[in-house]
Amino acid sequence: MTDAFAKIQALIHNTEQEFVAQLLTVQDRQQLEQLRILYLGRKGRVQALFSSLAQLDPAERPMIGQELNRLKKEFEEKLTAKLSKAAQSAKTIEQFDYSLPGRSPASGGLHPLMQVLDEIKSIFTSMGFRIEEGPEIELDYYNFEALNIPPYHPSRDMQDTFYLDGKYVLRTHTSPVQIRTMERQKPPVRMIAPGRCFRKDTPDATHSPTFHQVEGLCVDRDISFADLKGVVQVFAQKMFGQDVRVRFRPSFFPFTEPSAEYDFSCFVCQGKGCRVCKGTGWIEISGAGMVDPAVFGFVDYDPNVYSGYAFGMGVERIAMLKYQINDIRYFFDNDLRFLEQF
Ligand code: PHE
Repeated sequence: MTDAFAKIQALIHNTEQEFVAQLLTVQDRQQLEQLRILYLGRKGRVQALFSSLAQLDPAERPMIGQELNRLKKEFEEKLTAKLSKAAQSAKTIEQFDYSLPGRSPASGGLHPLMQVLDEIKSIFTSMGFRIEEGPEIELDYYNFEALNIPPYHPSRDMQDTFYLDGKYVLRTHTSPVQIRTMERQKPPVRMIAPGRCFRKDTPDATHSPTFHQVEGLCVDRDISFADLKGVVQVFAQKMFGQDVRVRFRPSFFPFTEPSAEYDFSCFVCQGKGCRVCKGTGWIEISGAGMVDPAVFGFVDYDPNVYSGYAFGMGVERIAMLKYQINDIRYFFDNDLRFLEQF
């Protein structure tokens, strides 16, 4: 093997390496064309290598000749590939439509429970009810005792809760706001009290340890059960439609006498019986009744002069019926796939 042979082999190797490196730095078509001329042009580096074949021993020429042909082909292929890639990206830029609208920022919205609560509030305020509020960490006295539920009373069992230090509880219903409101003002009272409540319940499709209620209370001279029925009927129709009927069933609460549970006729099947109403044609809403005179005793209202009614309702319950949601836990999972539907 001659010196010239080794030298030309090294040159081929370097040329190849330099070409690959330079190809990487090419920015546009013009630079690509310059590179092509530099390597494959009539006076280019590959041509120069072909010319140096003459210096070789005739026996060595075919091998290097073959090597040079391979090099030339490789360069051509690489240049073509790069050119078509450049053409493609130029095309994407040309095809971009600058008049397309931009991406709008995601905006938040009211939680479905708050939307339903707003609707409930506006129905009752339109009937002359004021909105009252009370604390979520409530005195045992307001949550139970002043509602005629003494410490030993078995009805506490149904509303087991989180006791804080003996004197305080997480309120189990919004009824304590009845007492707070009556302590603060003399009759007439006409108020609703929306808010969050808590019970020691294991979560399932219809139970959540955190939930919301709206309390209603009306106290004045000559208030009767008929007034309660009328107000609840109007609410039902405004919330669920003109055809909804209301029914009251006897029940018991220590702070109302007489007490009732009230149901709305099923607005899915119009009372015929379906899955939503479990075939009964009625949907249970909550409790209500005439304020027990014993409760008036706790707030210094004269039961011989005044009478009143009270009712409760679960906000989740109303929202689940309105939107046909079959699991209460969706409200508290904070899953955007659910929340974005409202
Ligand atoms: N506070 C009762 C409950 O949570 C409902 C109720 C409210 C009953 C007002 C009567 C009057 O079960």
